[in-house]
Amino acid sequence: MSPARPGAALLPGSTIGIFGGGQLGRMMAMSARGMGYRILVLDPDPGCPARFIVDGCIEAAWDDSRGAAMLARGCDVVTLEIEQIGQESMASAATFCPVRPGGAILAVIQDRIEQKNWLVKHGFPVGEFHAVRSFDQLHQAITEVNGPCFCKSATGGYDGRGQGKVGFGPQPTSEEDVRGAWEALGEGPGVVEKAVDLEREISVMVARSPRGEVKVFPAAWNHHENQILVWSVIPASIDPALESRARQIAREIADTFGLEGLLAVEMFVTRDGELLVNELAPRPHNSYHESERACVTSQFEQAIRAVCDLPLGEVDVIQPAAIVNLLGDLWLDAAGKTREVCFDKALAVPGVRLHLYEKLKPRRGRKMGHLSAVGHTPEEAVELVLRARNAL
Ligand SMILES: Nc1ncnc2c1ncn2[C@@H]1O[C@H](COP(=O)(O)OP(=O)(O)O)[C@@H](O)[C@H]1O
Ligand SMILES: [Mg+2]
Repeated sequence: MSPARPGAALLPGSTIGIFGGGQLGRMMAMSARGMGYRILVLDPDPGCPARFIVDGCIEAAWDDSRGAAMLARGCDVVTLEIEQIGQESMASAATFCPVRPGGAILAVIQDRIEQKNWLVKHGFPVGEFHAVRSFDQLHQAITEVNGPCFCKSATGGYDGRGQGKVGFGPQPTSEEDVRGAWEALGEGPGVVEKAVDLEREISVMVARSPRGEVKVFPAAWNHHENQILVWSVIPASIDPALESRARQIAREIADTFGLEGLLAVEMFVTRDGELLVNELAPRPHNSYHESERACVTSQFEQAIRAVCDLPLGEVDVIQPAAIVNLLGDLWLDAAGKTREVCFDKALAVPGVRLHLYEKLKPRRGRKMGHLSAVGHTPEEAVELVLRARNAL
């Protein structure tokens, strides 16, 4: 640890702790290393993707406050790449060094019901939703929506996990459908959201430092299939007035929270041109992986700058860039056996780069890596990165 100068930036040579050593933690760590920081991570899995990049890996559960103390004791600042850190762990870490973003913002975001209520309370636009805490409330909410809806667990879901879809088929919703949704929620609290008629999905990444400096990245345009992000591109090619509204919303959310670190704001653009906040993530985000190639400063470097209270980097677009996710399915044949993936074919496409997370086991739906591409236009970047993906 380096001696802290009160109110001063944490300079290279300091040690950054990260709750979570998944791909987001790994890529943050790679950025931090490049700037001369030391890094410790805490992860329940000692084989986590960050393991090769960091100075040390503490094997502990998200709610293990002793593990959190062990992490923070060796660090000058602690940040996170995942929302599911226990409040006691956050508090325990905070007795040793600053934790950015802090426990208060995390408490709001890690519970979908709290998060939605917070957005409503502060006047941010969200779609129709109903908080449910029992099977009967779920039943009533689905009846009230009276159409296609998404049922999402209050905690722990990601990449569409912990979610059930109801009312999308031609048949009226049955008791059995509601049962299925209740199981998808893990038979616990959640929200029922009316399905939004989407024109497209976008996200806006905002960074805010402890000294209150704010930088809002240009919006990303995100394409999902089966509730998982397939590709994403910066810039988003949306109407400039819409873009500016989206960035304003992200800035206001960050300011209202008094954020220290990164915050990704996922948004829906409806067919009526309305902008709705879908969900928040106080960390790097899959839809900003292309910022490494599209923007002056990547989201990962910006995260490090923000938590170390360094001046934030510029976020202007240098060139359009897109990514496509590589899921575990790619490594598995129809029988579920692992197969070789011929990355040379993808890399033959001009401007394409490969990013793998060194995950040990491919599983269907698991994010194993991504491809990125640049183009003269966002459309060309998407076209090239998909061409590379389809060559695999
Ligand atoms: N209310 C909704 N209307 C339309 N599409 C939705 C709705 N909720 C979720 N989706 C789709 O599912 C995806 C994943 O849902 P999201 O709430 O972002 O959960 P996750 O935490 O898994 O990312 C969204 O990006 C969107 O494509
Ligand atoms: Mg999402």
